[in-house]
Amino acid sequence: MYFPTLRLRRLRQNEDLRRMVRETKLSVDDFIYPLFVLPGSGIKEEVSSMPGVFRFSVDKLVEEAKEVENLGIPAVILFGIPEKKDAAASEAYDEEGIIQKALRALKKDVPGLILITDVCLCEYMSHGHCGVVKENGEIDNDMTLELLAKTAVSHAEAGADIVAPSDMMDGRVAAIRSNLDENGFKNTPILSYAAKYASAFYGPFREAAESAPQFGDRRSYQMDTPNALEALREVALDIEEGADIVMVKPALAYLDIIRRVKEEFGYPTAAYNVSGEYAMVKAASLKGWIDEKRIITEILTAIKRAGADMILTYHAKDMAKWLTS
Ligand code: PBG
Repeated sequence: MYFPTLRLRRLRQNEDLRRMVRETKLSVDDFIYPLFVLPGSGIKEEVSSMPGVFRFSVDKLVEEAKEVENLGIPAVILFGIPEKKDAAASEAYDEEGIIQKALRALKKDVPGLILITDVCLCEYMSHGHCGVVKENGEIDNDMTLELLAKTAVSHAEAGADIVAPSDMMDGRVAAIRSNLDENGFKNTPILSYAAKYASAFYGPFREAAESAPQFGDRRSYQMDTPNALEALREVALDIEEGADIVMVKPALAYLDIIRRVKEEFGYPTAAYNVSGEYAMVKAASLKGWIDEKRIITEILTAIKRAGADMILTYHAKDMAKWLTS
């Protein structure tokens, strides 16, 4: 059948018709909201490169988490800024570490919210790398695994519902899985940052988490941005090692990867709409150059249409409000 019998515009005539044939619909169920927590009390300070995003002390974090829950968002992912950093990342797996304290407070006061923790060492290392640094400056993969596995278990002990390793060391999912199992956490899922690229889009996050590497960069562990087949290998490995959910990060410049990962594996797939993506949209909308609500809706819909079942996004609260108003 061809024009003039066939006219695709027939089903675009008004919003009611468009609503009936819409293929992708956002829902608050799709979102995971990132939260930054730091020591102290009564603190809620804005991240300068991320307007609308704050760093909270534990007491204020609890208030924020209640608001997130009331908006219907099912989960948050927690990032910690420790009291002190050192070369062993000791606060990452300290029972009294910032994340562990936050988890206990949130579990007690906001029990209905799913708590995901970012499992990484960069925020806790004095040098800001995601792994153990040897004397020659090399990031040691195998020594790092032990610390990551310890960190994941300490998060689970403090109340984490899901752990999310973001370091990109080889073998971390297997190391974390076996340590969780040995310590009685066989039901704690792993959301692995499976295809995480060495991206320039993480800039604002590193200000928020104070986690910029003090020397060099992350290219010896995060993926080279032009590669796609390698992303599929990364995801395949993580699945083999026991990942329950696989993530592609960043999202916008990697929609093709999200699509391929979803098609190839059919696993629950997450995408991280990262800090730099957020900052660009915010900057342009603060200047009045774009229609913020329409742009954010279009971006998040595109990430879902590409194949993401869940989207980690700093826009989650705004989008949830728009979806329910
Ligand atoms: C920790 C981590 C990073 C992000 C999430 N977990 C930063 C990095 O790898 O340098 C980035 C998130 C964002 O940009 O929003 N390794």
